[in-house]
Amino acid sequence: MKIRILGSGAGGGLPQWNCNCANCRRARQSGGDLLPRTQSSIAVSGNGVEWVLVNASPDLLAQLRSHPDLQPARAMRDSAIVAVVLCDAQIDHVTGLLMMRERTSPLPLYACAPVLDDLSTGLPLVPLLGHYCGVQTHMVVPGEPFSVAACEGIRFTAIPVESKPPPYSPRRESAAPGDNIALLIDNLDTGRRAFYAPGLAQMNADVLGAMRGADLVLVDGTFWTATEMIDLGLSTKHAAEIGHLAQRGEDGRPGMIDWLDTLPRGTRKVLTHINNTNPILDPRSVEHAQLRAHGIDVARDGMQFEV
Ligand code: MLT
Ligand code: MN
Ligand code: ZN
Repeated sequence: MKIRILGSGAGGGLPQWNCNCANCRRARQSGGDLLPRTQSSIAVSGNGVEWVLVNASPDLLAQLRSHPDLQPARAMRDSAIVAVVLCDAQIDHVTGLLMMRERTSPLPLYACAPVLDDLSTGLPLVPLLGHYCGVQTHMVVPGEPFSVAACEGIRFTAIPVESKPPPYSPRRESAAPGDNIALLIDNLDTGRRAFYAPGLAQMNADVLGAMRGADLVLVDGTFWTATEMIDLGLSTKHAAEIGHLAQRGEDGRPGMIDWLDTLPRGTRKVLTHINNTNPILDPRSVEHAQLRAHGIDVARDGMQFEV
């Protein structure tokens, strides 16, 4: 099974269009050492031909252009993307759905009930796409494994996580199970497993158990510290208020690095969905070196894993 990082940035990407923080300025310099990053998404494939998109980024078209094998050109109208699975209804994970409207058949879309609810009300992409290609919705039930037609040999399982529904959702401050999920992605041929959670605000026993059973852990790398946006004067919000656990813990509580340290030896640990303010984006930073010392990688667009 192949897992490819199409976008490793958080909402806004790197550089963010209206941002002149140090990272965004450096990412605009061509040939510099801060690589630009598109907004969060991965693609998963059993055979390297058909791919399932997990989250549909606003940067989807650029991502498809930079991966020519995702256009196999077997017919006049064609794509390697056979379905979309969503982890939440955040803008950075769903707006790419609009870019798939030229499909010649309804788009298979797998998501939990609260996400399908947001996408039919506050951000009504599902009824809207009904006027274009149409959407064939499949309701995902947390804990119940599912497979995607045309993507044999791979099993997906949604694990509810504590994070945040999008700002436009009526459940922003009172999330329901399924508003935010981690995905377990199992290769049924090899028995190997990936864990993917671009938004994770708090660890619990179920989520940690799911991470412990995975060979590859691709997890929320949004912020280095929980007050990063406040410290830079860019926001008044703490990381927890926007649904992310920072890499460095606060007030003696564990951060993402501490949790990743508890995973079995040999687990491949990679941070993704990295906000443009995060110092780990600079490969020469002390923060990046600290991650490497813990055996943690920083995702880049185009990275691919064999699981
Ligand atoms: C988030 O995960 O908090 C998002 O990146 C927000 C957004 O898409 O603007
Ligand atoms: Mn996001
Ligand atoms: Zn910036």
